[in-house]
Amino acid sequence: MAPSPYVFPIVDSRSVFKPDIFKGKVLFCTGGGSGICRGMTEALMRHGANATIVGRKLDRLTQAAKELSQATGQECIPAQADVRQPSALREAVAKTIEKFGRIDYVICGAAGNFLAPISGLSENAFKTVLEIDTIGTYNTIKATIAHLRASKGSYIHVSATLHYSGTPFQAHVSAAKAGVDALSAVLAVEEGPNGVRSNVIAPGPIGGTEGMDRLSPKDNVPGRPGYPSGRMGAISDIENATVFLFSDAAAYITGQVLPVDGGWTHLQAGF
Ligand code: HXC
Repeated sequence: MAPSPYVFPIVDSRSVFKPDIFKGKVLFCTGGGSGICRGMTEALMRHGANATIVGRKLDRLTQAAKELSQATGQECIPAQADVRQPSALREAVAKTIEKFGRIDYVICGAAGNFLAPISGLSENAFKTVLEIDTIGTYNTIKATIAHLRASKGSYIHVSATLHYSGTPFQAHVSAAKAGVDALSAVLAVEEGPNGVRSNVIAPGPIGGTEGMDRLSPKDNVPGRPGYPSGRMGAISDIENATVFLFSDAAAYITGQVLPVDGGWTHLQAGF
């Protein structure tokens, strides 16, 4: 790997973790067809897991599953489902069990976003984002929990740092992600006795993602000043946190929110 030019290096998880730590394990990832969640899936597969990626666009999912399988030598299958539809999610879970026989890890990552002030946000727009992010997370938990109890598995919910302060034009996402954080905490407490862990990763601004392109395309410049880390986040930063939180090294960590933001959230609070 070429040396990173940044003070906070960009690290490949394979340089830190053993390549087979997830051998025989199965991941179920909503939103896994693109962006951050695709990277999280690839990271688990690079450490031995097989995976199902879930999303609305079958073409994109099918292509991504093929590329992920080729890149990692593991198996990835696509399952078309809108997380707002519980029955479609149940079918995606059934497809996973039929193919792989188990589910060990779930990433609740499907999300929607756009910039809009509260005054300009229609009732349906607000409701749509809550339905995708928060109710979609609830639906995914409901569809998978029996399998995670059986495997003593673990959840990671992809949230945000937007709701730690009043982020303009993000009322819908802030409300939705606060709900996601709360769901994860309750899940951790209720399911801990069953051996199930639940944690949240809260990405700061991550370059090269649809979310960032939608919110602030002008920010998408490597090495942009103003970040405590000297750079925006990279998808690999989220991948590394994912590998850690699903690994046995995090066996006593549950009910937590892990911001992966290079210190960016504190900078916002301080200036
Ligand atoms: C205002 C908008 C809008 C916009 C849609 N709406 N886009 N309102 N500004 N830019 C309104 C519509 O007018 C409609 O309301 C309502 O939202 C539902 O829109 P639909 O297009 O019918 O819904 P749907 O097809 O389900 O699309 C959902 C979506 C879409 C959220 C609107 O953008 C989407 O699916 N995006 C998924 C991809 C994505 O955004 N990924 C990035 C996530 S990143 P009316 O009243 O007209 O019926 C992320 C983390 C960010 O979440 C953290 C970064 C730091």
